[in-house]
Amino acid sequence: MSNSFFQKDIVSIRDFDKKKFETIFDATDKIIKMNPSERRELARGKTLGYLFFEPSTRTRLSFEAAMASLGGTSIGIADASSSSAKKGESLADTVKIMSLYSDVLVLRHQLDGSSRFAAEISEKPMINAGSGTEEHPTQAILDLYTIWKEKKRIDGLKIGIVGDLKYGRTVYSLLYALGNYKVDVHLISPTALKIRADSTYEIKKRLPYKESTDLEENLDDFDVLYVTRIQKERFADAEEYAKVKGSYKIVPDMLKKMKDDVIIMHPLPRLDEISHDLDSTKQAKYFKQAEYGKDTRAALLALILNENGF
Ligand code: CP
Repeated sequence: MSNSFFQKDIVSIRDFDKKKFETIFDATDKIIKMNPSERRELARGKTLGYLFFEPSTRTRLSFEAAMASLGGTSIGIADASSSSAKKGESLADTVKIMSLYSDVLVLRHQLDGSSRFAAEISEKPMINAGSGTEEHPTQAILDLYTIWKEKKRIDGLKIGIVGDLKYGRTVYSLLYALGNYKVDVHLISPTALKIRADSTYEIKKRLPYKESTDLEENLDDFDVLYVTRIQKERFADAEEYAKVKGSYKIVPDMLKKMKDDVIIMHPLPRLDEISHDLDSTKQAKYFKQAEYGKDTRAALLALILNENGF
């Protein structure tokens, strides 16, 4: 029987249930332990095609590194201004062409809906690497894997999510993903950056959460603190950004008020919302989280490309 990821698109984390997460977690553990020469057989002769219409460091490079670790190669567009999109070629044609040259596609695009649209055009499995303000499903996979590895469970945890909850697509994918677990979620943001009203119905169906603007008063409550950047590039008005810029900053002194075994996560890139002085503390897990991104993406690619798993 085919594994459930074989040749499948990864467009939205809403398509995932607990069993799918467990499959990826187990596959990731296996990838990490695997002998490198055995791992290099999992995508030997296969090509990953990436199309990044927005900047990226971690997502693109971790996909490339993951594909290389599986013995495959990557081709792609890291900067749309150097592609024929600059001459006016449509997204549909760009996706179609890339799907003729590769075995699996990875797309990041500034428009909501771009990933679903591209999956319909592509002749090969399409992975959403960030679509507008909508979703970033592989980030949610690595976020959940990080929580699971570092806390040894997900059910029963108290999770604080702080920052730009309006525009941060990682937040939406994370909330949809956490909807599969019994967790207490507390959302902390400036009033102007609360989660979007059009998503609250969908999220509330999946998990109850509380909202506030004050981080300090709840610091002692969290097992996981997930910090996000305020997404300047998504604001229509620079003055509106100026009003909320720098709203929260996690500094080492705050650790005194937090549980000793809290983990601090961030999808990165960060600006000033986490002090660099925190990086060497045992609670800081954001670099480990980014490292898990390579492993979880390797597991996902290996499952998509190998019918019987590995
Ligand atoms: N977390 C994340 O998506 O990082 P990049 O924008 O660097 O890919």
